[in-house]
Amino acid sequence: MKFLIATEKPFSPAAVKQIREVIENAGHETILLERYVEKSELLAAVQSVDAMIVRSDIIDKEILDAATNLKIIVRAGAGYDNIDLHAATANNVCVMNTPGQNANAVAELVFGMLLYLVRSGFDGSIGSELKGKKIGLHAFGYVGKRVAEIANGFGMVVLAYSPSLALNPEAGKRFNVAVVQSPEELYESCDIVSLHMPANEQTRGSINYGLLGRLPQNGVVINTARKEVIDETALMRIMEERANFKYATDIKPINHDKMVRKFGNRYLASVKKSGAQTNEANLNAGIAAAEQIVRYFAEGDETFRVNPVK
Ligand code: 3PG
Repeated sequence: MKFLIATEKPFSPAAVKQIREVIENAGHETILLERYVEKSELLAAVQSVDAMIVRSDIIDKEILDAATNLKIIVRAGAGYDNIDLHAATANNVCVMNTPGQNANAVAELVFGMLLYLVRSGFDGSIGSELKGKKIGLHAFGYVGKRVAEIANGFGMVVLAYSPSLALNPEAGKRFNVAVVQSPEELYESCDIVSLHMPANEQTRGSINYGLLGRLPQNGVVINTARKEVIDETALMRIMEERANFKYATDIKPINHDKMVRKFGNRYLASVKKSGAQTNEANLNAGIAAAEQIVRYFAEGDETFRVNPVK
């Protein structure tokens, strides 16, 4: 079978080497398309392949229709909002993700960004500490749980909200997390909120002015989830209204340049989406993706499938 690794933002060379080994040791062939610029390059590459490994690469209906031999696509990572699941199901393509594999990398980035904000961009002025502060985790999947563990290490008070956690508050105990019953309660009760939900119909634009406004003075929001979940107009408004509101993200907002000019070191955005940009995360997620595809072809194993069967 032909496996295409299609990554506009490539895995580390060490990860690519090991992903290739998994594929080729199982008797398959690797095709590598990295740093492509035009969609036409991806369209040409997908034509003869049986399987694909991607990151945040956009896999829409046009790509799926051009991939006439494709049987499986694995998103090496958590969020699969970049893949048209409906078109994949219609074309009998199995879609999987690799949950948890890059969670630690994203969670560590949360604290890198948080320290930058509370220490005023390391400009030498008086900042604040994390110890004793209340951090609210909005959603509690693999990344949220890892953030909880690290936050406890800093001596922070950890609160969390997700619809499923609200139904089962006991689940927070293992992570020393106090579960609240609504997003409103989370924002009202915390100094800092870290976003960890996927982008979907329920969450797009859901972090709105009403919620952001519930944070106390000096409120901080860290977004390593998805750009779409935050209402960027509301974010601009609250940062203009409150001279002490801080925001950091690894997914650049549309108004990035304006925000840099207006908000200085109350605002931080990485140049490129960087939560999973560690050698370890690339190895974990990339190898897991290759192994999942190998097992799918060898045994029909559909663990981690995220789209319905036709
Ligand atoms: C994920 O959903 O796993 C993260 O956002 C990482 O995405 P990336 O592979 O595009 O860096």
